Amino acid sequence: MSDRIVFTRGVPPPEAFPTDELGECFDAAIRNDTNVVLQYGQQPGYAPLREELAKEYGVSETEILVGNGSLQLQDLVSAHLVGPGMAVYTEQPSYDRAITTFRRRGARVTGIPLEDDGISVERLEAAVEREVPAFVYLVPDFQNPAGATLSLEKRQRIVELANRYGFRVIEDIPYRKLRYRGEDLPLLRDIDPSPVITMSSFSKLLSPGIRVGFMIAPADLVSAVTRLGEDTYLSPVLPTQAAVAEYLRRDWLTPNIERLKDLYRPRWETMTEAVRRELPDAHAFIPDGGFFVSIMLPEDANTENLIGRAKDVDLVLTPGAAFFADPDDGESVPGDRFVRLPFCAVTPEQIDEGVRRLTSVL
Ligand SMILES: Cc1ncc(COP(=O)(O)O)c(C=O)c1O
Repeated sequence: MSDRIVFTRGVPPPEAFPTDELGECFDAAIRNDTNVVLQYGQQPGYAPLREELAKEYGVSETEILVGNGSLQLQDLVSAHLVGPGMAVYTEQPSYDRAITTFRRRGARVTGIPLEDDGISVERLEAAVEREVPAFVYLVPDFQNPAGATLSLEKRQRIVELANRYGFRVIEDIPYRKLRYRGEDLPLLRDIDPSPVITMSSFSKLLSPGIRVGFMIAPADLVSAVTRLGEDTYLSPVLPTQAAVAEYLRRDWLTPNIERLKDLYRPRWETMTEAVRRELPDAHAFIPDGGFFVSIMLPEDANTENLIGRAKDVDLVLTPGAAFFADPDDGESVPGDRFVRLPFCAVTPEQIDEGVRRLTSVL
């Protein structure tokens, strides 16, 4: 068997990193604002970066918190909003680490079925009528793990539900700027910011290692989460935040995103074609951007020990069940039939060969 093919983590490949430019920005950031950047302080995040983000999203700086990656902000928000045994609703499937984080904070996490155009709003409404959650967590653009994008109509209905029943919605949008076709849909916060917490990060646009993520929320929530952050890590990592601020100041982000789209688009096309060609009986989610194609295998597919048998042909897969929370209807979840296929960190040749290997073990 030839080389191992890894269809597991959704991470940028090394060729995606703007290494030289980031190096220049780190250098400038540390030298130009030494006393701030190398010191404790600026708990809600590096002020010039908050200013840039406030401008971009049309909010006040008091509504912006920049922290050490968006996952930690999700965790701190959960610590603030979730009491023991409270309900949290996610798409089903959803981002596995978010499910884990919410559970660790005491939430009962229920997955609401994901359709081609996003979460089922009927099923969400039924769940909300049974119990109003601490929050609903959504990845509306090119969802991790499935790739689906939430339609405009559903965005409007979800915001309306949130206002009617009085719950918050977290929209987590780290992939949003990596769109390969079509037009942006409004953010949920563009429809009405009051029930919405927006989370994003520079992990997929610059580098995950720099750990620069942010949230946009009403000022009182930002203050409360900032205090939790201060109690947790004292002060955020200012040198990397300052390097990102410098990167934005130099107007380098837009060209970098264009470069990333040129890198990822052929991989996305190859994965889409390979799945359609090799797995015509599977239900495929074909995204308009982001990192993930995914498939739901037909009920009669041989999924017995799929991960182990894939390993035997040098193909590494993530177990699908990790992306599933508790079901909303008591039925068993189809985790064994769900396969996430991240395409960004593999070459078109590896994608074709990997999908062939997957087909050979089904
Ligand atoms: C949907 C989603 N949210 C959050 C994260 C974590 O991002 P960060 O690196 O900013 O913590 C990821 C990373 O894969 C993700 O897919």
